[in-house]
Amino acid sequence: MIITALDFDDSAKALEFVDRIDPELSRLKVGKELFTTAGPGLVEQLQLKGFDVFLDLKFHDIPNTVASAVRAAASLGVWMVNVHASGGPRMLDAAREAIQSGSSSESAGRKPLLIAVTVLTSMDDKELQSIGVAQSAEEQVRRLTQLTVDHGLDGVVCSPREVQHIRSFVPDTFLTVTPGVRPATNTVKNDDQRRVMTPSDAIRSGSNFLVIGRPITQADNPLEALQQIHLQIAS
Ligand code: C5P
Repeated sequence: MIITALDFDDSAKALEFVDRIDPELSRLKVGKELFTTAGPGLVEQLQLKGFDVFLDLKFHDIPNTVASAVRAAASLGVWMVNVHASGGPRMLDAAREAIQSGSSSESAGRKPLLIAVTVLTSMDDKELQSIGVAQSAEEQVRRLTQLTVDHGLDGVVCSPREVQHIRSFVPDTFLTVTPGVRPATNTVKNDDQRRVMTPSDAIRSGSNFLVIGRPITQADNPLEALQQIHLQIAS
């Protein structure tokens, strides 16, 4: 399943783009920039057009505040929402309970999947040390993924390079959401993604959801780009 990262700086551009693709072929990720400029109204519009929305706001705060934020996301009817696992056990419990206790009318008939971010892929071992984490990034990803499993969340966001390792110790039903995916024929200019994987390899490694941005949003024909990626995965 593909999630297109809707990395636009205003709602007009985002809406113009989504009118060129098909909800059957992709879900949408709305992140901090677009949500800050366009707000909940845009999320509602995207959902009215038939798209499932992953609200990628990576909540990280005291348990009560995160629970309230997650509840607000659920009441918007989004399909997926995320928090930082490093917020700790009580914050993860509060987020999970906020979703579980939401009434179905509040959440537009369904409850969002709750996903955790472990270690930001921009952080390396040295940067982790500078914030007091002595373990390697790999060890820290493992620790925070285990914490996420233990506290009953639905999955983690991780690099496609980490999926195989993560799959080795999480339950089969635990979800992995992976950015850093590039189609075999990548045409993104000045691509800043390193250590990428193709969609087929990411799925083969055990990824459940591929987050792909520019290869789709900057394509001359985004619908065709999505169809091509589906074809590559199917073959
Ligand atoms: O355009 P591109 O395919 O690189 O977009 C990937 C999306 O996934 C962006 O929204 C980016 O912020 C997000 N992301 C990422 N790497 C992570 C976490 C999130 O690229 N480790």
